Amino acid sequence: MDKTKNTFALTTPLYYVNDLPHIGSAYTTMAADVMARFQRNLGRQVLLITGTDEHGQKIQRTAESKGMQPQEFSNQISAEFVSLWKLLNIKYDRFIRTTNPNHEKIVKEFFARLWESGDIYLGQQKGWYCVSCEEFKEERELIEGNRCPIHTNKEVEWRDEENYFFKLSKYQSRLEELYQSRPDFLQPESRRNEILNFIKGGLQDFSISRVNLEWGFSVPNDPKHTLYVWFDALLGYATALLEPEDEPTLENALAKWWPINLHLIGKDILRFHAVSWPALLMSANLALPERVFGHGFLTKDGQKMGKSLGNTIDPIALIEKYGSDAIRYYFIKEIGFGKDGDFNEGRFIEVVNADLAKNLGNLLNRNLNMIKKYCGGSVPSITGEDVPDDNPLKVIGLQLGEQVKANYEALAFNQACEGIMRLSQACNKYVDEQAPWSLYKQGQQQEVEQVLYVILESVRLAAYLLSPVIPNISSDIYQQLGFGIDFNNQIDIANSVPFAVHGKWGLLSSEQKLGKAQPIFQSIELKN
Ligand code: MSP
Repeated sequence: MDKTKNTFALTTPLYYVNDLPHIGSAYTTMAADVMARFQRNLGRQVLLITGTDEHGQKIQRTAESKGMQPQEFSNQISAEFVSLWKLLNIKYDRFIRTTNPNHEKIVKEFFARLWESGDIYLGQQKGWYCVSCEEFKEERELIEGNRCPIHTNKEVEWRDEENYFFKLSKYQSRLEELYQSRPDFLQPESRRNEILNFIKGGLQDFSISRVNLEWGFSVPNDPKHTLYVWFDALLGYATALLEPEDEPTLENALAKWWPINLHLIGKDILRFHAVSWPALLMSANLALPERVFGHGFLTKDGQKMGKSLGNTIDPIALIEKYGSDAIRYYFIKEIGFGKDGDFNEGRFIEVVNADLAKNLGNLLNRNLNMIKKYCGGSVPSITGEDVPDDNPLKVIGLQLGEQVKANYEALAFNQACEGIMRLSQACNKYVDEQAPWSLYKQGQQQEVEQVLYVILESVRLAAYLLSPVIPNISSDIYQQLGFGIDFNNQIDIANSVPFAVHGKWGLLSSEQKLGKAQPIFQSIELKN
């Protein structure tokens, strides 16, 4: 892998358009946006890819049940994802729809490569199929009543048909080699172990075509077969890389951003990304992605929240009620990325009130008001270097940037947030202990200025480090500190606020003209 490359390409899954997006489907995209924004802060050129997966039986059936053509239906639902990403303040660079005509050319070129490698053959597929997963299930995986363990309200269907197969079994040892030689390829550790266990049992070839299915791309030279939706979907990651003016060839698609640095996915689609996808790429002789991370599920009453189960939470209602920053903050801070987590409105209100309204918001407001009162409204004329090295906020502040950077890189978003919150908690404790109002009364002006400076600088650092998660609030804080910075303007972000400068404690100077103090986040009242 070329470590000198300053590009970072990452993907969300391409979402099925069988139903409206829910907060569970939005979860991966929020996390991906946080990572993308963080990478842009670092000064990397970033490409965030998202999109919709529009073929296959599940979509065809759902469209039929609504009396619509699948394309018309897909257009409608795909547009809902676009508008939700806008509401959630997702700054994606590419939105790929698998019904895009360029995509068909890429998929067929890829198929031809595998064919040339001798990895595709015609065989008989017998087995239980879950249409909601678009996946064959082993008999032993099924739960009572022939139901899928993920879509517990859906019965699997028996299939016995001629399909084209991909020789996955041929790649058993190369895959084992991959997981051994690149332990970071698959994260977190628990998912890696799951896959190591899975492949121990021996890999079986899988079918990559379907008969009796119209909605999809036909198999080259055998049009009674339609390509399996997952075969087509995974390649969406490649098609997404095409520049608008490019001829749709694999060579063009892969010229700049390949290999993908990070695929973010939920744990239900781990095998496709950690086993099938690398094997398909090996067969096509293409470089493998750098990292696949499988996060957990948002659950409701302990069950995966999902469109097929119908137990979802509507993200639009939540955003309208609470704003995108609060929603993003809750899911990113409250649920360890990789673990399952429940959404609970009471807990949500508790968390955002404590962290955003009180710890951060009140702290800033109180401090700016004291600066107005005791320092004539200007940043005290000291520098970070003047502050003694054993000042408790300086001690935390000086190592926080690097620590949070490591957390973001490791996708330990909750730890990043917790680390930042520890600094603002320490600020709140410090202000009470130091009581600058008493120092002022005692005429200790220099001490007052130092106390207020270290707090203000710590709030600045906290706002900067949180900007990937709560870009609106961070922008408001930065504006009150007198920086004309909008963290949502991602185009020039690394030049205007580079991590190497803004990620370090001690930046604020007395030349900075402070803006108007305003509450940055109103406490939410808990009803009932
Ligand atoms: N179309 C496939 C992905 C193809 S990628 C080339 C698909 N789509 S999906 O819409 O069913 O799911 C998309 C993503 O949303 C998956 O990563 C899935 O794990 C995630 N989530 C769906 N429900 C979820 C929760 N309740 N909680 C967390 N993530 C969930 O699979």
